Amino acid sequence: MSFNSEIQRRRTFGIVSHPDAGKTTLTEKLLLFGGAIQEAGAVKSNKIKKGATSDFMEIERQRGISVATSVLAFEYNGIKINILDTPGHKDFAEDTFRTLTAVDSVIVVIDVAKGVEEQTEKLVKVCSMRNIPIIVFINKLDREGKDAFDLLDEVEQKLGLKVTPLSFPIGMGYDFKGIYNLWEKNINLFAGDSKKNISDTVEISNLNDSKLNGLIGDSAAETLRDEIELVQGIYPKFNIENYQEGNLQPVFFGSALNNFGVKELLDCFIKIAPMPRPKASEERLVNPKEDKFSGFVFKIHANMDPKHRDRLAFIKIVSGTFKRNTPYLHVRHNKKLKFSSPNAFFAEKKAIVDISYPGDIVGLHDTGNFKIGDTLTEGEILNFKGIPSFSPEHFRYINNADPMKSKQLFKGIDQLMDEGVAQLFTLDLNGRKVIGTVGALQYEVIQYRLEHEYGAKCSYENLNVHKAAWVEPKDPKSEEFSEFKRVKQRFLAKDKQGQLVFLADSKFSLQITEQKYPSIKFHLTSEF
Ligand code: G4P
Repeated sequence: MSFNSEIQRRRTFGIVSHPDAGKTTLTEKLLLFGGAIQEAGAVKSNKIKKGATSDFMEIERQRGISVATSVLAFEYNGIKINILDTPGHKDFAEDTFRTLTAVDSVIVVIDVAKGVEEQTEKLVKVCSMRNIPIIVFINKLDREGKDAFDLLDEVEQKLGLKVTPLSFPIGMGYDFKGIYNLWEKNINLFAGDSKKNISDTVEISNLNDSKLNGLIGDSAAETLRDEIELVQGIYPKFNIENYQEGNLQPVFFGSALNNFGVKELLDCFIKIAPMPRPKASEERLVNPKEDKFSGFVFKIHANMDPKHRDRLAFIKIVSGTFKRNTPYLHVRHNKKLKFSSPNAFFAEKKAIVDISYPGDIVGLHDTGNFKIGDTLTEGEILNFKGIPSFSPEHFRYINNADPMKSKQLFKGIDQLMDEGVAQLFTLDLNGRKVIGTVGALQYEVIQYRLEHEYGAKCSYENLNVHKAAWVEPKDPKSEEFSEFKRVKQRFLAKDKQGQLVFLADSKFSLQITEQKYPSIKFHLTSEF
């Protein structure tokens, strides 16, 4: 197959949702359709079960599972699909944000009864910022939930999306009869009352056809006709360009658990979802079809075996082909590296591959060379953009609890930060180290891993910080900036890249500071 055809047949995407909306179930059903797994239940959920937040065994188990399910690749109708798994647990949200830098589109799963939840809002915001094409899947239609139109309104308002339904439910919960597919103009009906099987797919090119009454009864047929008329009156017509530019979001309804509406979703997905997209680097826009290889690290996974500190760096291939045993330039280190055993991922297995194409993910064994955001090329100096750090939510001083092991402690902290477990800030005033995390769970993970992988001990001390704001002065030589640095010295720190950060102790203090120093911009992400 030609290089271009290999690119054109790849779809790399992520499924995101608030925990429990059905992401794992949907992933599993997609894999079943692709023949990548044979039975339901084969995909272990990459999530920490509720109530297990302080259980270290659980953390270790989670790390193991998330390597196995980091990338789930399979073929469907000649299309190579790469699903990038994202942890649902909010304490690992930053991991999810970074994974979103490597996807070309996403499917957002929403629970029909719960509607748009907090985690969904955050994740969709990140996708929208990057114009990532989004398909919405409203799940659990076999249960009573919100009215379809109310939900569509909620999705538009809370998520700021412009939706257009491509399928529509016939009834819901107890009365759920099936799905009308606006995309292919047919109806899938459940068999019997069990709601477990699809009995029939019936072509309905004209909803006024009396065949519809025979299929679902007079009253349901009338309701469906009215609803579809309303859908067509209110929502814009689907248009693939608008969707791919991130300006229009098709919506599907179904029940992942019962396999309902999933095939409609998948069949449409492979037709409309974008193939690997060009990616911006600081230097230029890189097109997947360029023949020279380039790629970037979006995730680093530490080895499960604490005795061997090697790690797996996940690279998204942006352009050209990645070949085994070929030297590539590690741009940040300006040195050539070659990889004898790059891993590709197939559903739950991984295997060594000789060649990979744009859109693919390869896992490279790493002994500490990589950090998140690093670029590999055939020689060109490229630095891919779009892997910012977000302001952490929690901040604590980290102290060395075993003075004999300070070297180990610093090495451990350094490597864990490169992996993206948390962020490190060094206070300007006294050089004290502050660890910022998305969730409190990370502090336990860091303490545990420092001890077990690096033989170092740490303790924490509370620090009252509301947000870390990256500081961008209009003129670094201005009076105003000097005054800001003098007055706020106690609250200033450097991140790991040496960028200046203001650790605001309250929302109010951040606002006041912004007003007082109008020529300085304060950003809640490290890339601006
Ligand atoms: P997540 O990855 O988004 O966190 O969600 P997951 O797929 O694990 O699903 C969360 C719960 O919702 C699971 O039940 C799952 O069986 C259920 N579920 C998923 N899709 C549907 C659906 O279409 N209809 C209904 N009624 N339920 C659905 P659980 O009891 O928490 O877990 P389990 O013991 O079944 O694994």
